[in-house]
Amino acid sequence: MKAFIIRNLRKGDFKGVVKTYFSYYEELKENPGIGLSLYRKRPTIAQERKWFASLLENIRKKNAIVIVAQMDGKVVGMCDVLSFRPGSSMDHKGLLGIAVHRDYRSHGIGSAMLKEVIRQSRRRFETIVLSAFSNNHGAVALYKRFGFKQYGFLRRSNKRGGKYFDESLFYLNLK
Ligand SMILES: CC(C)(COP(=O)(O)OP(=O)(O)OC[C@H]1O[C@@H](n2cnc3c(N)ncnc32)[C@H](O)[C@@H]1OP(=O)(O)O)[C@@H](O)C(=O)NCCC(=O)NCCS
Repeated sequence: MKAFIIRNLRKGDFKGVVKTYFSYYEELKENPGIGLSLYRKRPTIAQERKWFASLLENIRKKNAIVIVAQMDGKVVGMCDVLSFRPGSSMDHKGLLGIAVHRDYRSHGIGSAMLKEVIRQSRRRFETIVLSAFSNNHGAVALYKRFGFKQYGFLRRSNKRGGKYFDESLFYLNLK
């Protein structure tokens, strides 16, 4: 495994980010249990362009911290913390999301992105929350290792292909 770079998202990452995101839809076909809540229908490039523009705008307004992992010039993972309802009484709280392209997992990329996003979040957020499929044991172990504590559990929170998945809720206090 070659070295990877952990850095903040840039405007020029659009293609790489979307390619990696679309790979999760391919993975879903083989692994219906993947621990990501994806749209039932893969978004179009036009929808992704809109989403990406709004993400960049949220970064500019300091409502989002977005870290990517780059290897061989490709974006192979992303980890973000997004403010809850910017401008509201909840905007001191951030929602974390993370995913690494399946070809690049278990090499420390997820841990490195989490470390960096938490470091940068300390300047902006007081609490980070996240939601995980309860059966996503690898991800849950990773969050616990970073000090996340479980505060909730919801049965049958996700429904995919007629199958239900429970959800575990975690938080990390930064203050
Ligand atoms: C969760 C995820 C982001 C971790 O990224 P990663 O680059 O594989 O993470 P790391 O290599 O830093 O692994 C750190 C630890 O995570 C856990 N882990 C990650 N993937 C695992 C897996 N498939 N099975 C078991 N443990 C796993 C392990 O505790 C691992 O530690 P170890 O390598 O010492 O055993 C990645 O597996 C992923 O993208 N999964 C699919 C999407 C997803 O589930 N996202 C989380 C949504 S809540």
